[in-house]
Amino acid sequence: MAEPMLAVIGGSGLYEIDGLAEAEWHSLDTPWGKPSDEILTGVLDGLKIAFLPRHGRGHVHAPTDVPYCANIDALKQLGVTHILSVSACGSFREEMAPGHFVIVDQFIDRTVNRVKSFFEKGCVAHVSMAHPTCTALGGLAAQAARSVGVTTHVGGTYLAMEGPQFSTLAESKMYRESWGCDVIGMTNMPEAKLAREAEMHYTTVAMVTDYDSWHPDHGEVDVTEIIRILGANSAHARDMIAQMPGLMAPSGDQGCEQGCAHALDYAILTAPE
Ligand code: ADE
Repeated sequence: MAEPMLAVIGGSGLYEIDGLAEAEWHSLDTPWGKPSDEILTGVLDGLKIAFLPRHGRGHVHAPTDVPYCANIDALKQLGVTHILSVSACGSFREEMAPGHFVIVDQFIDRTVNRVKSFFEKGCVAHVSMAHPTCTALGGLAAQAARSVGVTTHVGGTYLAMEGPQFSTLAESKMYRESWGCDVIGMTNMPEAKLAREAEMHYTTVAMVTDYDSWHPDHGEVDVTEIIRILGANSAHARDMIAQMPGLMAPSGDQGCEQGCAHALDYAILTAPE
């Protein structure tokens, strides 16, 4: 098993991480174009780390325009084995309050305007997405977040919407009441699908910023309020990340139960040439 390298994909509010030894920014290119930004690599308490700001420094990529394929490809090129995807989200559950973290374990993908696979032309592969996240890595992230005092919920269904507008009240109620979703965001699909195709362990740490629009006591989603909550959430995310080296096994075996690193073993249909 390979020595682990942990990538943090930083969402809204998380554009840098500090404390890395041997820090170096890399400008990479991929067959899918350039990633969202340069990628920072370094070592944190003995653990190899990569950091990619999903929206770019300065928040220049809207959710639809994030180069998801290039991002995952570039991280793979750097030798990344595990991805901690840190993302702002709205909540459909009273108990998942702003400021809390949710370790997502299911997705409903409602995005419609994004390239969703590395296998669209030339080579056909169908990976399993039944269990779309690495629950072992998610468990470590939960441990890390709780150890720094963040209320953390393990398990939750993330509704990935296209955006950039927020949901209507009718959509918000449907996702919550009929579809059983727990949180909503605009970026973790197709990211999770692509990470699975790239045979990387992937977990989403969804940082709650708001109650979307369903909550009778909270009114509509308001970007000013989101930004206010994001400041505290990002500080907590940095604290959580700092705990990961102490929790991840240097052997690379974190106890994955989803077979993330072997997702393509029985997935490719195209005959070898
Ligand atoms: N990101 C943060 N809050 C959100 C919401 N309510 N809907 C979609 N994406 C979000």
